[in-house]
Amino acid sequence: MDKDLFEYNRESWNELTLLHVKSNFYNLKSFKQGNTSLNHIELEEIGNVNGKSLLHLQCHFGMDTLSFARLGAEVTGIDISDKSIEVACKLSEELKIPAKFFRSNIYELDKLLTDKFDIIYTSYGAINWLNDLDKWAKIISRYLKPNGIFYMVEFHPFIYTLNDKLQIADHYFKTEQIESTVDESYTDNSVVSNKKLKHIEWHHSLSEVITSLINNGLQIEFFNEFPYQVYNCFKNMIELEDGKWVFEKYKDKIPYMFSIKAINNRN
Ligand SMILES: C[S@@+](CC[C@H](N)C(=O)[O-])C[C@H]1O[C@@H](n2cnc3c(N)ncnc32)[C@H](O)[C@@H]1O
Repeated sequence: MDKDLFEYNRESWNELTLLHVKSNFYNLKSFKQGNTSLNHIELEEIGNVNGKSLLHLQCHFGMDTLSFARLGAEVTGIDISDKSIEVACKLSEELKIPAKFFRSNIYELDKLLTDKFDIIYTSYGAINWLNDLDKWAKIISRYLKPNGIFYMVEFHPFIYTLNDKLQIADHYFKTEQIESTVDESYTDNSVVSNKKLKHIEWHHSLSEVITSLINNGLQIEFFNEFPYQVYNCFKNMIELEDGKWVFEKYKDKIPYMFSIKAINNRN
């Protein structure tokens, strides 16, 4: 049953990738000119990646993955979207940045990947596409070398309780799947031709994220929350200061993002 659900997201992300590569939001031109797509948070928090093997889960069309390669990491990216992986492979070839990219549902990774990695990375808008975080954390633990590092930076789950009027409208502890049909993306040129895309997502509370990692042998080194968003990716945001986006209504009074660094304690 879950496999069918993921197929909707796969189809949707194929459409979205076509939009995203042309968007100002992703700014592929700047990336091709040599600029990093990574934000100051992950760059500062993840530590030195030079010479390390790095697995990027849900890598979209690979700009972050290739940005880590530019910093000296030996990178592998995986994503469920065929189009994303197609673009990522082309970028790697065009820019002559060595990288491996595989199309796979994260939950089926063991069908094609056997290596273990020094670092596993995932970011911004990833875990809301996953239904089972315990299974997700098992995969992280399975692919990390002993003492390997897992680092994630994500949208804060509190944000997902807010409606368009920024009132608390949804349950923070909601576990049921959330189905929606969309015809636009979070990027600037957002309208998806004349199609409606079906999305299937899940809410995950902070305790769910942290507990799933701990239960699978990951020792939390730090956990941070941020009073701003690095992307202008939700409605009604203003730029408080350079690169720090907030809802005008709440400014920096609420959490917008969180990050976690954890070490694999298992052999
Ligand atoms: C919002 S994007 C991740 C954002 C990322 N920080 C970036 O580079 O833009 C979410 C990605 O998750 C991928 N995805 C969704 N469900 C997945 C699954 N079950 N397995 C692997 N990838 C998945 C989508 O194809 C999409 O590329």
